[in-house]
Amino acid sequence: TSLDMAAPFNKVFYGTFIHTPGLDEIEYLHDTVVAVNASGTILVVEALPEGHKQDAAAWIRTVLLPRLGWTPDAVAVTLCEPGQFFFPGFIDTHLHASQYPNVGIFGKSTLLDWLNKYTFPLEASLKDLTKARRVYSRCIRKTLSHGTTTAAYYATVDVPATNLLADLCLEAGQRALVGRVCMDNHAFSPDFYRDESPAEAEAATRACIAHITSIDPSYTLLRPVITPRFAPSCTGDVLGRLGRLHKEGNWPIQTHISENHSEIALVKELFKDQVPPSKGESDGMPSYAGVYDHFGLLTPQTILAHGVHLSEAEAELIRSRGSKVSHCPCSNSAITSGAARIRWLLDRGIEVGLGTDMSGGYSPSVLEAARLASLVSRHVAMGGDDAAKLSVEEVLFLATAGGASVVGLADKVGLFKVGMSWDAQLIGLGVVDGRGGVGTGLDEDTNVDVFGWETWEERVAKWVFNGDDRNTKQVWVNGQLVHDRSAVATGGVPS
Ligand code: GUN
Ligand code: FE
Repeated sequence: TSLDMAAPFNKVFYGTFIHTPGLDEIEYLHDTVVAVNASGTILVVEALPEGHKQDAAAWIRTVLLPRLGWTPDAVAVTLCEPGQFFFPGFIDTHLHASQYPNVGIFGKSTLLDWLNKYTFPLEASLKDLTKARRVYSRCIRKTLSHGTTTAAYYATVDVPATNLLADLCLEAGQRALVGRVCMDNHAFSPDFYRDESPAEAEAATRACIAHITSIDPSYTLLRPVITPRFAPSCTGDVLGRLGRLHKEGNWPIQTHISENHSEIALVKELFKDQVPPSKGESDGMPSYAGVYDHFGLLTPQTILAHGVHLSEAEAELIRSRGSKVSHCPCSNSAITSGAARIRWLLDRGIEVGLGTDMSGGYSPSVLEAARLASLVSRHVAMGGDDAAKLSVEEVLFLATAGGASVVGLADKVGLFKVGMSWDAQLIGLGVVDGRGGVGTGLDEDTNVDVFGWETWEERVAKWVFNGDDRNTKQVWVNGQLVHDRSAVATGGVPS
C-alpha cells in the first residue's frame, strides 16, 4: 500500500493474531481480519469465511470495506507474511526512564548501595533538560522498538524534566503513565537529590498532574501517576499527602515494596513509631504493606513493584485492597533481591504484570522480562514447589492482558477485541517452509529460526526464549504506527 501507515487512516490487518485472554489461555486466530478505525479502535475481529482464504485482499475489498462504508483509497491494508503474526503490544508495568543510561551497570551491588552509588547521581543529573531530552527520547525509541506500547514510567524529582518525558511520550505516540518521583526523607534521600519539604513534594506532583492533563486532556495516551519512590525515601507526612491526593482525582499510584531484606528492616525502623503494628506480623511491628495502607496508598489503582519478600498477612492485605504487583525478574536477579513467588501471589488472588525495572533490570525488553519470569519461576520450583513454574502462555499473559489490568487499562489494551485499542506488534520469525532469504521478500534478519514443521505453540515458545527486537517488525499504539524496523535500520545513528 502507498498510504502512510503512521497517518490516521482506517486500517485493515489480515493474518494470524495471537493473544492471551486469560492466565494460561492462548488463542490463535488464523486467517483473520481486524479492522481499525482512524481513531485507533478495533471495529472488527473476524475469521475469513471458508473459501475466501486464497484471496483475502479481494474479500476485504469487496465484502468488508463496503460493509464498513470505507472507500478503498482511504484504507491501509497490512497482510502478514508466512511466519509472521500480530501480538498485543507489551505493557511494561514498571520502569525508570531516567535510569536508561545505566542499563547493565550494577556491579555486585544490592538495592540500597545500588541506589546511592549508581542511581541517585544519574537521576539528579537529569535536571539538565538537554540531557533529559536525550535520555528520554532514546528510552522511548528503544522500548517502542522492543514492542512496549504502554509504559509505567518513573521520571525524576525534577518537574520540568518529568513534564518533558510526558511531552516526548505523546510526540512518539507511546501510551504511558508518567510519574514525578517524591522523596523527602533525609533518612534515605541524598542532600543533592531530594524534595525540600512534604508540601513541596505535593505541589510538584500537582504541577506534573496539571501538565500531563493539559497536554492530553482526554487521556488518549497519557496518565499522571502519583509516585512516592518507596517508604524509606518518604516521610509519613508525604505519604499521607499523596494518599489524600489519590482520593481527589482517583489517580493511579506506583511505588516499590518488599524488594530486599535490608530495605524491609529500614521501613520497620523508620515507621515503627508512626504506624501501629500490623495484624498477623509476628514481630509486633508495622509491615511494609501496612505502612502504605496506613497512609491510604493501597488502592485498586496501586502498582507495587517487586513484592519479593511479602508475608502471608501482607499478601492478604494487598489482595483485600485490590492493589496490583509488578513482577521485575530481571531486576530481582541482577541486584540479587530475591526470587518473587508469582504463583503464590496469583493463588492469593493478586493481579500481576511484568516490569523491566530499568535499570535495576538491565534490559529494556518485556520479552526478556517474560523469559526471565519463566526462569525465576523455575528457581522457585527448584526450592521444592513444582507448581510454581510459569508456562509460556502465562508469562505472555502477564506481559500483555495481565499488565493491562495492573496499569488500569484492562478495558483498552492487551487483547484483540472489538472496542479495544489497536496497540499491537507485528512479529516476524525466520525462514518458514524453506522460503525466505535474500530476494524472496521475507525478512531473514531475525533471531528466531523456524523450519515450518513447528506447531504455533512451538513457534511462540521459540519466540519467547530466543526472540528480540529483530523480530519486532512494526509496532502500533492507538492505531498509529510508532515503530517500523525496516525504516529504523537505515535511519542512521541517533543523537
Ligand atoms: N527502590 C527505590 N527506588 C528504586 C529504584 O529506582 N529501583 C528499584 N529497583 N528499587 C527502588
Ligand atoms: Fe524500580
